Amino acid sequence: MSGETIAVEELSKDQAEQELARLAAEISEHNQHYHTDDAPVISDADYDALKKRNIAIEERFPDLKRADSPTDRVGGEVLDKFEKVTHRVAMLSLDNAFSDEDVQDFADRVRRFLKLSADAPLAFTAEPKIDGLSLALRYENGRLVTAATRGDGAVGENVTANARTIRDIPHKLNGDVPDVIEVRGEVYMTKADFADLNRRQEAEGKQTYVNPRNTAAGSLRQLDTSITASRPLKFFAYAWGDTSGLPADTQLGVVDCFREWGFPVNPLMKRFETVEEMIEHYHVIEAERSGLAYDIDGVVYKVDDLALQLRLGFVSRSPRWAIAHKFPAETATTVLKDIEIQVGRTGALSPVARLEPVTVGGVVVSNATLHNEDYIAGIGSDGEPIREGRDLRIGDTVTIYRAGDVIPKVMDVDLSLRPDDSEPFVFPETCPACGSPATREINEKTGRVDSVRRCTGALICPAQAVEKLIHFVSRNAFDIDGFGAKQVEVFYRDGLVKNPAEIFTLKARDEASALQKLKNREGWGEQSVANLFEAIDARRNVDLHRFIYALGIRHVGEGNAKILARVYHSARAFVTAMEAVGEEQGEAWNDLVNIDGIGPTVAHALAEFFAEPHNAAIVEELLTHVQPNDAEQVATDTAFSGKTIVFTGSLERMSRDEAKAMAERLGAKTAGSVSKKTDLVVAGPGAGSKLRKAAELGIEVIDEDEWFTRIGE
Ligand code: IVH
Repeated sequence: MSGETIAVEELSKDQAEQELARLAAEISEHNQHYHTDDAPVISDADYDALKKRNIAIEERFPDLKRADSPTDRVGGEVLDKFEKVTHRVAMLSLDNAFSDEDVQDFADRVRRFLKLSADAPLAFTAEPKIDGLSLALRYENGRLVTAATRGDGAVGENVTANARTIRDIPHKLNGDVPDVIEVRGEVYMTKADFADLNRRQEAEGKQTYVNPRNTAAGSLRQLDTSITASRPLKFFAYAWGDTSGLPADTQLGVVDCFREWGFPVNPLMKRFETVEEMIEHYHVIEAERSGLAYDIDGVVYKVDDLALQLRLGFVSRSPRWAIAHKFPAETATTVLKDIEIQVGRTGALSPVARLEPVTVGGVVVSNATLHNEDYIAGIGSDGEPIREGRDLRIGDTVTIYRAGDVIPKVMDVDLSLRPDDSEPFVFPETCPACGSPATREINEKTGRVDSVRRCTGALICPAQAVEKLIHFVSRNAFDIDGFGAKQVEVFYRDGLVKNPAEIFTLKARDEASALQKLKNREGWGEQSVANLFEAIDARRNVDLHRFIYALGIRHVGEGNAKILARVYHSARAFVTAMEAVGEEQGEAWNDLVNIDGIGPTVAHALAEFFAEPHNAAIVEELLTHVQPNDAEQVATDTAFSGKTIVFTGSLERMSRDEAKAMAERLGAKTAGSVSKKTDLVVAGPGAGSKLRKAAELGIEVIDEDEWFTRIGE
């Protein structure tokens, strides 16, 4: 973790805004390491801690929540080999709770959102969180027509033929069913079946599998259906997507119908009226965990009443009406064999532990994160000792911690086993990739040094250059088919592509070259080179937000890139505006910081990036090879699309959050303060300064009842 850790309740609004920007950037970097590069640099628990802190700050300052908030992201990738299926109703993720307190907070949040008093009845279901992979099964007139994996939540893979081989999945539903119903649930493999499969693999001298979940996922995503059929996969139904009508008005009621229609449903699902009972059930399930036939990693609580679920809706990527209460992580002991320093896209030096391989919770772990220099030395990000000040040394016997699917971390050290000749680890003060000084910046706000050491060789550092290129071609950026991290590394090393613009001149240079042609390189041939050039050409017209995101500017994640694309509309307008920003004043700067969702941190990062002549030149050059598609204008199909609405005063029929969510569903933006960009103010009793400001600026003001009339409810 980097930066200072000021307790969330002590953050000023400015600090909170900075911190949210920092967290968005940091979490996005870790997502990249984890999902795209397959090389995580921090542990799951630390990753979760970052996300949790981000959520806590967003909860304290809801109006500071960023459009690119990490809270709203779901991991996962769509493979190309299956046909893609666009989910009519997105397949979302669940927010996590790690303590009883988190569960209580969740229930309180639900009540607050719904404006329910503490003693108003409110029921939840509680059921095991199955450690498998989710699958959406679409039935039309009772017959299975499509089975799709989650993919990235919006688009999944069509695995219908494979799903049909799973005996738990009915091809035809029993009884009276809606014309269209998409039943969702988890595909999993039992622990016994997994052990059997591995025994067979071993007997045949084949590679064994890591854990039941990955094996289930691998088994379902086989292009050869007979392989899936040979694997003992099972299914539990617990949710739904698109439907022509639901058979009941509670969570439990619908799941009961699933059972009647022929689906296996989890027998440990129960309904409770109080948080105490829910937590009690969590402990019952936890106690039964090791005896269950399948792996679970927590308990999912859901608001039982579907009308309330509908009102609660979603916080972009996860429902407000459900939460996963995770089981504690697992630990193991092993030897720290070496400490390697990796250099990231923004120059951060991240220490990674190389470990004697050890099994933690069924997975073999040989790398773990060490976070930063201070962490190794036994100092926390607040400057206080951690592990009672014990440092970590090569040769030490250490405890590894791993929770669920996250990056393992080195937690502690057993000093009694420390070799006599061990020495404190000396963290490099120069970049291992380019030799430039690596420094720790002073945080302007707190005056303390950052825990992250960064390489100062921005433009000359090959590690940063490679990471930037990898980012440029990554899935959410240019997404060039067949040109991923591995190819980028080799091409960079061999001097073929040293910056993003050179990707687009590769073909011309290759054709003109009298020297070695790409097709003659090892691992390449006529066809694969033709495919690569075609894939590159196909990306000469990416969407503007991808182009902006691909530039790899600090603090400009996908969300901010989308905001910028929407506001500036065309690449030319964006670049011209950014080049004009310069100092912390003037029209271009004001326009930029006035954009809803763009704060000073992001604005500075943009200004700094474009003020660097080399960056500006690369962008210009890039624009001679690619023509980003102009961003679409905001949809205009509701009376509120594109409008900026401010809610103020005490609202009586809905909570402030519900009001905002409603407005956003109608395509509006919501803002916390009234300015000349505000289109409408919805004011309840007690509204004060915002109402006055609206009057001053001549902005339309309506009351809550009028709001409901206008939205047609
Ligand atoms: S409900 C809107 N119930 O957990 C989300 N999910 O972290 C509805 N999962 O993608 C999901 N057991 O794959 C739900 N009993 C359960 C679950 C469950 C496992 C998985 C599911 C989901 C992931 C979210």
